[in-house]
Amino acid sequence: MSVYRFIRPLLFRLDPERAHSFALGASGALGRLGAVRAAASQRWGAPRDPRLATNVAGIAFPNPVGLGAGYDKSGDAIPLISRLGFGFLEIGSVSRWPSEGNPVRPRVFRLPADEALVVNYGVPNDGADVVAARIRGVESAVPFGVNLVETNTGHTTEPAEIIEELAQAAATFAPLASFLAISAECANAPGMHPIAKLDNLRSLLDAIGRTGPLPPVFVKLRVPPETIDDVLRITDGFPFVRGFRINTVQARPYAGLNTPQETWEPLKGSLSSPRLGYPAMLQAVRDWYRRADPQRYALIASGGIRTGRDAYATLRAGASLVQCVTALIFQGPSLARRINKQLLALMQADGVTNVAELIGAENQKVHQ
Ligand SMILES: Cc1cc2nc3c(=O)[nH]c(=O)nc-3n(C[C@H](O)[C@H](O)[C@H](O)COP(=O)(O)O)c2cc1C
Repeated sequence: MSVYRFIRPLLFRLDPERAHSFALGASGALGRLGAVRAAASQRWGAPRDPRLATNVAGIAFPNPVGLGAGYDKSGDAIPLISRLGFGFLEIGSVSRWPSEGNPVRPRVFRLPADEALVVNYGVPNDGADVVAARIRGVESAVPFGVNLVETNTGHTTEPAEIIEELAQAAATFAPLASFLAISAECANAPGMHPIAKLDNLRSLLDAIGRTGPLPPVFVKLRVPPETIDDVLRITDGFPFVRGFRINTVQARPYAGLNTPQETWEPLKGSLSSPRLGYPAMLQAVRDWYRRADPQRYALIASGGIRTGRDAYATLRAGASLVQCVTALIFQGPSLARRINKQLLALMQADGVTNVAELIGAENQKVHQ
């Protein structure tokens, strides 16, 4: 926390989008210097401990704590942020075509009393061609995936066109990424939901499957628990689908935030908050883990995770990997190192010898 304790007040004087762009730009520039990368690993790298190492969908991860989509949307800063103790990165969301995202600004808001954000970006990114050129051969210390989304054009696009776009983007990134995450929905871009319909999902996976060899694919889709079996009936037919990206969206009005209602009510966008996001995510992980065959499907979960205890409980609920975004913004670059150290301490206390043993452990107890 020490360096960030001084930097954060300066960053937080800027509006959140500018602060984020500044931090990312600086990380991109500084990450070109080998000495800076080495210093970052030294200061912020996670413990290299075989107990944290895990293999998910055939990918070897040095630890299970990843950086979620939305922090490095266009792959600008991989060399440096891959040295901040995360076991993997999810770049994006990237769309087939570049997009400015939602036009109205500001479009990100901090709720410091809750360490929460309201986000209304609408997936701005440089587009698949530019991002692919940028990340081809990039020097990353950990595996990274690319999250793909339809292009936000500001109007509703026909499902067939979205499917075509996503299949092209999947083909572009298949040889470059350790995994792909396909966003079948976006919380803060109006009109971007048709692909979440299950018939469309089948057509999408058909189209992606036809593009050629694929790395493991994770589907990011928010459905009520009673629809999970229907989703699985579709994905079962596509062996390249190796799991799901769990995410949840909090419905308004937000009950239980420290931030007063008059502050958050006028803010347009979706809430990322530990207080509301974390319990909802944990429940979603349980719902999915109980239905999806854990030998076949892995769950990658994000939502309000900011401590080793949060990560530990999420793995025990059934996630194979966890991710953070909002906590990085509030807690700074020592976040992943701290979470991993806490995770190790909890494992040690419980006599757990590898994180893989934790996955779904809570459910096994229930069934015994
Ligand atoms: C500023 C910001 C931007 C985000 N952008 C994306 C995105 O482009 N694509 C995506 O799939 N998720 C995006 N997310 C969602 C995160 O990946 C994550 O699922 C969510 O924020 C919950 O995790 P957290 O509580 O650790 O932030 C974004 C989140 C934040 C805070």
